[in-house]
Amino acid sequence: MLIAAAVGVLGVVTAVIVPTMPAGAAASTLGAAAAQSGRYFGTAISAGRLGDSQYTTIAGREFNMVTAENEMKIDATEPNRGQFNFANGDRVYNWAVQNGKRVRGHTLAWHGQQPGWMQSLSGSSLRQAMIDHINGVMGHYKGKIYAWDVVNEAYADSGGGRRDSNLQRTGNDWIEVAFRTARAADPAAKLCYNDYNIDNWTWAKTQGVYNMVKDFKARGVPIDCVGLQSHFNSGSPYNSNYRTTISSFAALGVDVQITELDIQGASPQTYAAVVNDCLAVARCAGITVWGVRDQDSWRSGDTPLLFSGGNKKPAYDAVLNALNSASPDPDPTPTPTPTPTPTPTPVPDGCAATITTTNSWQGGFQSTVTVQAGGAAISAWTVRWTWPGGQSISSLWNGQQSVSGSSVTVRNAAYNGSIAAGGSTTFGFTANGTAATPTATCTSP
Ligand code: G3I
Repeated sequence: MLIAAAVGVLGVVTAVIVPTMPAGAAASTLGAAAAQSGRYFGTAISAGRLGDSQYTTIAGREFNMVTAENEMKIDATEPNRGQFNFANGDRVYNWAVQNGKRVRGHTLAWHGQQPGWMQSLSGSSLRQAMIDHINGVMGHYKGKIYAWDVVNEAYADSGGGRRDSNLQRTGNDWIEVAFRTARAADPAAKLCYNDYNIDNWTWAKTQGVYNMVKDFKARGVPIDCVGLQSHFNSGSPYNSNYRTTISSFAALGVDVQITELDIQGASPQTYAAVVNDCLAVARCAGITVWGVRDQDSWRSGDTPLLFSGGNKKPAYDAVLNALNSASPDPDPTPTPTPTPTPTPTPVPDGCAATITTTNSWQGGFQSTVTVQAGGAAISAWTVRWTWPGGQSISSLWNGQQSVSGSSVTVRNAAYNGSIAAGGSTTFGFTANGTAATPTATCTSP
């Protein structure tokens, strides 16, 4: 009635009243704009820049997914074999979560950024070290990570085959072993294969990775997503067949995530094309740019990002407009319900521990032990149990073990002794023998 009255009085205001936008107001940040279609928009974050308020202001405002640029890599998280260090990884993780963002984990098994001790391993000891590393890092972040880049950059730059590396030389099955280990370590995380130069559908490397994912899906190897790094530059330029690459991977039954986007020169048209290609495929789950401002980029000379100093570049506007033009998600993919962590019966004070079997095979098994504080916070814990049938631990992470015959004692690691009242932490192990879940006792000083 009001509109009719207004038209009646003013005559020709109809064009002003009819909305020209699609339903809903345009979002004013990248994360909010992507969320309109059920997607995320993320950035790589570097722990060393978290003291820079221009950086954290932009990152805090614009993005709703975070990848640690270097801090969750192998050299950062396991600098010495069996000694994990999550100080910088946790800095990035905590900043992200405290600012309402989800986190992608990057990366668990890779030929790059290996600590010296791992570079010098080979064969079965390297294979075991890879498994232990995956268990240690995923155990620490269990239930907290949206998706892990389980394996990174395993394909050769040309020819469509595997890259030679110490991991590859442990046997061609190293990638699937990494994925199976990862699934058992954190069933709630999506598991991605991540690589560069697999953006152009006609390239042999793209086809090599495509065939691996197809084979994994056919054989039941657990894989949930493919990460297209999408570092575009003159040697590896954006091509309009990118949309075919995304839809072809998606048709295999995996999500596609654009994981490390940067574009030499930051052409607004190319940025918009990338966004529109993702928006065109329902299983393209989101986009992460590899840094906040040009000065933060690993290729800063290419000025490949969306901000220059504190300023939005034309590419930023192109991305925001493209995201705002997306049609709303008609059929949002339900967020998978994480497998609940077993909750031991709390004790009034002190702690309780429960062992669960997460994986088993002929002659061996893997377990997770949940340690829960009672009505008061604790600063250290000790868990004990007795094996019923000759089992023996082959590898244990996120705890320190001592064994005497069939009696096992596990004390907290340096970084997970403190548990808030009612809170919990986990450690894990692989063992030889028949899977068993003996009753465990927990004490805290
Ligand atoms: O922190 C040290 C500093 O103390 C030292 O003085 C300086 C001297 O070189 O090095 C600093 O470490 C550098 C680190 O980045 C932090 O800035 C390393 O040398 C440097 O190699 C490292 O580069 C990282 C690169 O991965 C290494 O592979 C980049 O930041 C990071 O953006 C890049 O990310 C990769 C992805 O993980 C995988 N895909 C490709 C992508 C780009 O290369």
